[in-house]
Amino acid sequence: MKTRARRSLHFVPGGNEKMMAKAITLPADALILDLEDAVPPGLKAGTRPIVRQWLGDLDFGGRERWVRMNPIATGLGRADLEDTIAARPDGYVIPKPRHATDVREVAQLLDALEPRHGIPSGTTRLVVIATETPEGLLNIHEIATATPRTVAISWGIEDLGAAMGLPRTRDADGRYLDIPRYARVMCAIAAAAAGVEAIDTVYTDFADLEGLRRECEDGVAMGFSGKISIHPNQIPVINAAFTPSAAELEEARELVRLFEQHMQRGIYAFTYRGQMVDAPHLARARKVITRAGG
Ligand code: COA
Ligand code: MG
Repeated sequence: MKTRARRSLHFVPGGNEKMMAKAITLPADALILDLEDAVPPGLKAGTRPIVRQWLGDLDFGGRERWVRMNPIATGLGRADLEDTIAARPDGYVIPKPRHATDVREVAQLLDALEPRHGIPSGTTRLVVIATETPEGLLNIHEIATATPRTVAISWGIEDLGAAMGLPRTRDADGRYLDIPRYARVMCAIAAAAAGVEAIDTVYTDFADLEGLRRECEDGVAMGFSGKISIHPNQIPVINAAFTPSAAELEEARELVRLFEQHMQRGIYAFTYRGQMVDAPHLARARKVITRAGG
């Protein structure tokens, strides 16, 4: 079960001992140990036991432990699961799904593997990177709802851009062009429709922390609950942006108190700081309190 917020989900290339040693000292909420695109094709098989050993031996200090597997359709994904499940990761990050069947296939493999390793059924979670293929982006709703194991969906533009032959994904001011913007919007909406978290994608220009901060704020405004990081310096920026400020939290608590008082008189719509508030404002205030950790 989820025990803490997922604001920063930090990538570590599988097999990179130096980065892994550093990663367990960083303030990320979750670590994603990569077996996919950050691992050269020839090293995949040799990297699986290293990642299993990291999961088994290292003290993650309460950080969630995720493994990004290879796409199930490549034939590599199955061995990724079989060779790492014994170390009981919190779950797997699924790249490049095309339709719900790609996600269900992973869920069914886990159904078979969990009992063999004494893992309670259904407890291995999934985060699905739902927009990395054009087909997957069109099928995002069925992908997001394919299995109850899924706790979050994320999106990606590098692979989608490659598949579509997009020469660039941002305009001269660094703003996303239409295709990535559509993928990002659909990720946020599909997550909300499926009742799972939306996790914003990587910001690859890791030296540009101001650009990252702006993109995080935009992500908060779109309903994302966290963002993937690739470099240590990105983590504090992401954590700060996805943690409600003290003022926001105080306002949310005040609003909930006022709703409780008004409800005793049978009132659900009233004036707050000159504005009308009703049911959705209460729902939003409760979300802010949840995001703040209680
Ligand atoms: N996790 C842990 N430590 C990391 C790290 C990461 N993801 N990325 C960099 N570091 C470490 C470096 O080893 C270096 O450590 P040191 O100060 O002890 O020498 C320090 O942080 C500063 O790194 P820096 O020199 O600024 O960057 P770099 O050139 O070493 O690495 C990247 C840049 C992008 C190659 C690297 O950040 C990286 O590989 N990120 C993850 C990529 C990934 O997983 N991609 C797949 C998902 S999209
Ligand atoms: Mg990729």
